[in-house]
Amino acid sequence: MRVLVTGGAGFIGSHLVDALLKQGHEVTVVDDLSSGRRDNVSEGAPLHVLDVRDPALVELAAAWRPEVICHLAAQISVRASVADPVHDARVNVEGTARVLTAAHRGGTRKVVFASSVAVYGRPQAIPVPGDAATDPRSPYAASKLSAETYLASFKALHGIDYTTLVLSNVYGPRQSPEGEAGVVAIFTDALLSGAPTLLYGDGDQTRDYVYVEDVVDGFVMACGPAGGGRRFNLGTGIQTTDRHLHTLVAAAAGAPDRPGFAPARLGDLPAMAVDPLPAFEGLGWQPRTELTTGLKATVEWARSRRR
Ligand SMILES: NC(=O)c1ccc[n+]([C@@H]2O[C@H](COP(=O)([O-])OP(=O)(O)OC[C@H]3O[C@@H](n4cnc5c(N)ncnc54)[C@H](O)[C@@H]3O)[C@@H](O)[C@H]2O)c1
Repeated sequence: MRVLVTGGAGFIGSHLVDALLKQGHEVTVVDDLSSGRRDNVSEGAPLHVLDVRDPALVELAAAWRPEVICHLAAQISVRASVADPVHDARVNVEGTARVLTAAHRGGTRKVVFASSVAVYGRPQAIPVPGDAATDPRSPYAASKLSAETYLASFKALHGIDYTTLVLSNVYGPRQSPEGEAGVVAIFTDALLSGAPTLLYGDGDQTRDYVYVEDVVDGFVMACGPAGGGRRFNLGTGIQTTDRHLHTLVAAAAGAPDRPGFAPARLGDLPAMAVDPLPAFEGLGWQPRTELTTGLKATVEWARSRRR
């Protein structure tokens, strides 16, 4: 199968490219390298350094005719979306409209889209069920939700199938410690270099950490006919507190477990976890990697890059 991966030089996208190539698929990557890295992309997949908003994407799809497009390229920072909502909308909404136009011109069967738990806002119940109401409370959440509705509109209009995957906190090798979301990468980087680490609030805030290879399994499964026209949560349903996460990363890094504490940040959710059961029923997807196992692999990868 021919698969075009947008954002394929990024953290999750590059692992997806590796998994697809391993299964014998033909893969092409589109990425503007705004946060992705050329050296993340396997030699087996040509990289087109291109903004997803660029009309050239439509020409590329028309010529290469991908059967599936996995759309992961995005402005990924909630804080950046608050600071510059127009830029966020341009990349995440206009970019998705361009990707869907490319899918239409390229005769693409299906688009698999990376959405975020941010679309749930402050959830009523945790773990958040698959059919929970959405409640976007940031421009990033609004742009992701808007992109989801574009998928549905292109299915209605042109018959292009789609699956939306709502990702919880993904962690693993190649995640950048630069962003705000990669708490595991931030702790790992600091603890390996002996720098101080900081927890916001009392450390009781919880998140649902899911390993990148498990998430990639979900994308590969969604490339098939299963889950057409639906959205699924990809998470573990398990809440881990910031304080406990710090203890686990410190143990994996062989570093002291002594974080500093700072006041809670305005707008931070006190708790989050999503119910993965619908993804099991609809796609056959299940998270496989225990947090301690995934953290060990992540820390080992970060350590190997320092040698
Ligand atoms: N990492 C997480 O925990 C998480 C959680 C929820 C959703 N997501 C979503 O998953 C996707 C991948 O995220 P990631 O963590 O791998 O981030 P990432 O920043 O590593 O990957 C995003 C990639 O998209 C590229 N990109 C950005 N803007 C582009 C543009 N205009 N044109 C072409 N390429 C562009 C970047 O260069 C980068 O390689 C994103 O859509 C993100 O919103 C991630």
